[in-house]
Amino acid sequence: MIKWEEFEHIHVVRKIREVVGNWFQVDILFVDDQGRLKNFEKGQKRLWSNTLLANTVNTEAGYDYLAQVIERENAHLVRADVKHHEFEFMPGCHGMAFPIVVDSEYVGAVVALCYHKAPSPQVDPRFVTQCEAFRLSPSDAEKAWRAIKHVQPQETTYFRELTDLVAQEIVTLHKEISTRETRIQELNNQLGGRFRYDQMIGKSKPMQDVYNLLDKISSSESTVMIQGENGTGKELIAKSIHYSSPRKDRVFLPINCAAFNDNLLESELFGHMKGSFTGAVKDRKGYFELADGGTLFMDEIGDISPAMQVKLLRVLQDGSFSPVGSTDVKKTKVRIVAATNRDLKSMVEEGSFRQDLYFRLNVINVQVPPLRDRKEDLMLLSDHFLAKTAKDKGLEPRILTKRAMEKMFDYHWPGNIRELENEMERVTVLAGAETRITAEMLSPRIREATDRPKVQGTRLSGKLKDALEELERAMIREGLRRTGWNKSRLAKELGISRAGLIMKVEKYGLDKRRLAREGGGPLGSTGTDD
Ligand SMILES: Nc1ncnc2c1ncn2[C@@H]1O[C@H](COP(=O)(O)OP(=O)(O)O)[C@@H](O)[C@H]1O
Ligand SMILES: [Mg+2]
Repeated sequence: MIKWEEFEHIHVVRKIREVVGNWFQVDILFVDDQGRLKNFEKGQKRLWSNTLLANTVNTEAGYDYLAQVIERENAHLVRADVKHHEFEFMPGCHGMAFPIVVDSEYVGAVVALCYHKAPSPQVDPRFVTQCEAFRLSPSDAEKAWRAIKHVQPQETTYFRELTDLVAQEIVTLHKEISTRETRIQELNNQLGGRFRYDQMIGKSKPMQDVYNLLDKISSSESTVMIQGENGTGKELIAKSIHYSSPRKDRVFLPINCAAFNDNLLESELFGHMKGSFTGAVKDRKGYFELADGGTLFMDEIGDISPAMQVKLLRVLQDGSFSPVGSTDVKKTKVRIVAATNRDLKSMVEEGSFRQDLYFRLNVINVQVPPLRDRKEDLMLLSDHFLAKTAKDKGLEPRILTKRAMEKMFDYHWPGNIRELENEMERVTVLAGAETRITAEMLSPRIREATDRPKVQGTRLSGKLKDALEELERAMIREGLRRTGWNKSRLAKELGISRAGLIMKVEKYGLDKRRLAREGGGPLGSTGTDD
């Protein structure tokens, strides 16, 4: 799209108009590729340098005449090789048009009106007749004729160059506008993208990687597997995947697979027929049917039984399933977004999770980083939750003192964002009339967090495997720091091979740069110290 109005305001264009107007009494007009006048509407009175134009084209009949001439002459301009085109505007007076070509495409022209090509002592009688059609008296016609400048052949080049410059300037401006607009569009898209994730706080590199991945998959309808620890925001991510997908206007249904036993889960997912089991008093639709056309978020997918895995595989393969107590085969077009905090890959190796199902689910994999790996988000997140809690309770937002913030940095947040959210809610309530949150107000486990090499908050409940992994990660992390990333030495200390250590470093994302970033250097001041 050409922005013709903008051309009127280009400094160079105005200047050239002025020069051409003063020197030659020639006026400059813009015409689009269809030969339509631009920036000059019928009924509009314009200031013209040229007396003839001032007396004619400002009238309706004159405008129509001009429009007709321009449209007729435009036919000569569309040819790619035309550099300029001279034509007779009225008997004995001429005009010249310069095509505007953008990316070898004719988009319109700059038209210069009007001048005598040859000395014009005598008024051309045909000119006078033509002027009468515009209600110009013969004497006024004669005055107009005399005011039209004779452009000498040597001046023509000069004049032509000036006018041609206008055309070129427009091409440049147009390109500039297009790139500017592409850029604005890009920024808009980015902003739009960010906006879709507006509920997600975090600008750390690991989160940006997540946003970028979400951007990339937003037009896709593939199955997604979201992996990350508890409370890292998996459900939030599942929602934003749905709400930025082509299915955003359809339903998003979450189901926690760990919350049901096998029988119940089957009936929840696939529905059941009346009387198929005790308590099945009527037919009931399952999630796969209810979410047809939308997204089904299957949380804690790592917890489903082998029998359920088979049933799930079937529906993932061809979209078919049967409600409990029925032999009917139903079809569904559900998009699956699954999540788990378990290490599905090792579960596959151990044989507790079907490999074929794993591959079906793992088409797109989103890894959500734990909070301890993106502590640069801690400040943003805690501010966010403090503000949110304050708003909910109609209070002024609390401020964390520097020392409280330091404690929070030292703490390793096994419960991730959810734990942080709860903690910020707790301290807001606890603070009472106090606006500053001091380190003493924090929960003991956080308050007592130190950066000393010891393993903190190892969980005493939950899966033994998860706890062991947590311990392993913490030991390796501290060991790396202590040995200054001397992997051979650390491997020896830990009693494992160097290759084994490197694999574990990879697995836990303990690369040097990442650790350096979360290394808890000087913290921004969030209040006076306590
Ligand atoms: N990046 C984030 N920004 C703001 N709030 C978040 C973020 N990630 C998670 N939360 C909040 O933390 C809590 C836990 O998130 P959730 O998606 O339920 O985690 P998960 O499903 O991984 O256990 C929710 O209240 C959620 O709104
Ligand atoms: Mg969850």
